[in-house]
Amino acid sequence: MTKRVFSGARPTGRQHIGNYLGALRNYVALQDEYDCIYCIVDIHALTSMEDTGKLQHYIRETLLDWLAAGLDPEKSILFVQSHVPEVMELQTLLGMVTPLSWLLRVPTFKEKVKTQPENVNYGLVGYPVLMTADIILYKANTIPVGEDQLPHIELAREIVRRFNSRFGDTFPEPQAKLTEFPLVVGLDGKEKMSATLDNGIDIAATTEETRQRIMTAVTDPARRYRNDPGHPEICAIYKLHEYFSTNEKDSIAGQCRTAEMGCVSCKKLLAERINVELAPFREKRAELAAKPQYIADVLSDGAARARIIARETLREAKERMGLI
Ligand code: AMP
Ligand code: TRP
Repeated sequence: MTKRVFSGARPTGRQHIGNYLGALRNYVALQDEYDCIYCIVDIHALTSMEDTGKLQHYIRETLLDWLAAGLDPEKSILFVQSHVPEVMELQTLLGMVTPLSWLLRVPTFKEKVKTQPENVNYGLVGYPVLMTADIILYKANTIPVGEDQLPHIELAREIVRRFNSRFGDTFPEPQAKLTEFPLVVGLDGKEKMSATLDNGIDIAATTEETRQRIMTAVTDPARRYRNDPGHPEICAIYKLHEYFSTNEKDSIAGQCRTAEMGCVSCKKLLAERINVELAPFREKRAELAAKPQYIADVLSDGAARARIIARETLREAKERMGLI
C-alpha cells in the first residue's frame, strides 16, 4: 500500500517563510510519491484565538498559499478540520488512553500557560490529543512538520502504542519528516518565526513589504558599526541567504566576516533574492485569489474525500473499544 502523508497548519494568518521552508516545501515534494492529506486545522486555532472574526478569511488565505506553492487538489486531499467532525469523536475516545500527566508535560502547553495565562482552556491541554486524532484518523505514516512539532509527534506515537496494546493493532506509529530548515528564526533574531509573534515575512507579501520587513530585522548584535566584523553563523538574515542565495552563500559569509559587506546591503540582497524566488508563486496566487468559487470547491471536495476515510477508521476504533 502507498504510504500516507498527513500534515496540518493553523489558520492564524498567511503562511510565512518559516512555514514554507520548514513544512510546505515538503508537503509539495511528497505529493508525487505518496497519498497526501493536508488539513487547515481551524479547531486547533481556536485554542489560542479569542477573536475569531477573521477565521474564515485566514482559512482562505492559507489555502491560497498552499495552492500557489504547488499543492494540487488532484493529487492531494486538502480540507478544513471542522468539516470532518469525526476527528472530534476520535479525540474524545483517545482521551481515555491518554494520561493527563503526559499532556501537562508537553513543552508547547507549558509555553502557552506562560504566554496566555488568562486563557488556559481545556482545549489547550487536549491540543496534542486532537493532533493525534488528525493523524491516525487517516492512518498516516509520515508527518512533514517543523521542529517545533516533534514533541507532539512523539506523544502521538505514545498514544498509538497505548491504544494498540490495549485494543489490538489498529494504527501505525506516525513518523515526523523534517526539511533541511526545520526551525526558521524570526526577524527579531531570537524566537522562531511565527504568525502570532509578528516576526516573519509572509510568502504572499508584496516586494515592497518584503523589503521593508527585512530592513527591520535584527542581525549580529556584535556589528554595531559598519566596519565591525560579523558572525554569519548566528545571524537570522544569513540563515535565509543559505536558502535563497545558495550559490553565493559562502561569498556572503566571507564578506560579512571581513566587514566588506554591511548589514544594510546584505539585507537588500536578501530581499531581492526572496522577491525573485517567490515571484512565480505570487503571480499564481493573485490568479487563484480571483476565483473564490474554485477555492470553495477545492475545500468541499477535499472534505468529502477525507470523510470517507475518517468514517471507516472511526467505526473501526469504536469497534475495537467495545462501543459497537
Ligand atoms: P503553524 O503555522 O504553527 O500551524 O505551522 C504549520 C507548519 O509550519 C508546522 O509544520 C510547523 O512546524 C511549521 N513551522 C511553523 N513555524 C516554523 C518555523 N519558524 N520554522 C520552521 N517550521 C515552522
Ligand atoms: N500543531 C500543528 C502546528 O501548530 C498543526 C497540526 C494540527 C498538525 N494537526 C496536525 C501538524 C497533524 C501535523 C499533523 O503547526
